[in-house]
Amino acid sequence: MAAIRILVIPGSIRTGSFNARLAALAAKEIALAGIDVTRISLTDYPLPIYDADLEVRSGVPKPAVDLKHMIGAHHGVLIVTPEYNASVPPLLKNAIDWVSRVRERGEPPLQVFHDRAFAIAAASEGKFGGLRALMALRQVLALGCGATVIPRQFALSGAEHAFDDDEHLKDSRDAEGLRALVKQLIDVAQQMM
Ligand SMILES: Cc1cc2nc3c(=O)[nH]c(=O)nc-3n(C[C@H](O)[C@H](O)[C@H](O)COP(=O)(O)O)c2cc1C
Repeated sequence: MAAIRILVIPGSIRTGSFNARLAALAAKEIALAGIDVTRISLTDYPLPIYDADLEVRSGVPKPAVDLKHMIGAHHGVLIVTPEYNASVPPLLKNAIDWVSRVRERGEPPLQVFHDRAFAIAAASEGKFGGLRALMALRQVLALGCGATVIPRQFALSGAEHAFDDDEHLKDSRDAEGLRALVKQLIDVAQQMM
């Protein structure tokens, strides 16, 4: 059996992004568990806002096909999303929408979402920690794309004060919540291999 591989995608490209920092910490936890992990930035997958006319004219842009391949090369995917107006930010939603349009080698629509496990986390300065973005993202992935999204999720509130100087989580309950999320993602991804 191939070694399990996990992909971590931060939903923000902002300098100093709390979600990118949480994604980096999650990737570290995954590596500590002895699992191969890849962390990407959506900066490397620049995409126009989804436009059906553009798709008809030019097809799906290459960065979306590349992102689909990146997802397809992993057994589990952790997405760490900011919350914008109680939902998923456009950068992330747009990337998912474009990937959902990639069709290759006659495979069924959305196949790349079906074959692996997804986990979701969020970080926000607010007291809900991006919980509403998680609800929206779960809906997009599970209902929209037919993905298996694991039951656990992790919302980091007060994100501006949550990290210590070593980029670990100061609150032991937060640290445990992130660890439990990563463990369940690895377990479910392994079962789906
Ligand atoms: C357009 C916009 C809407 C936002 N809406 C929310 C919100 O509904 N809930 C929340 O907790 N934070 C909200 N925020 C604050 C973001 O959570 C905050 O900017 C956060 O730092 C973004 O994540 P990042 O640090 O990973 O870039 C919003 C920010 C923007 C720019």
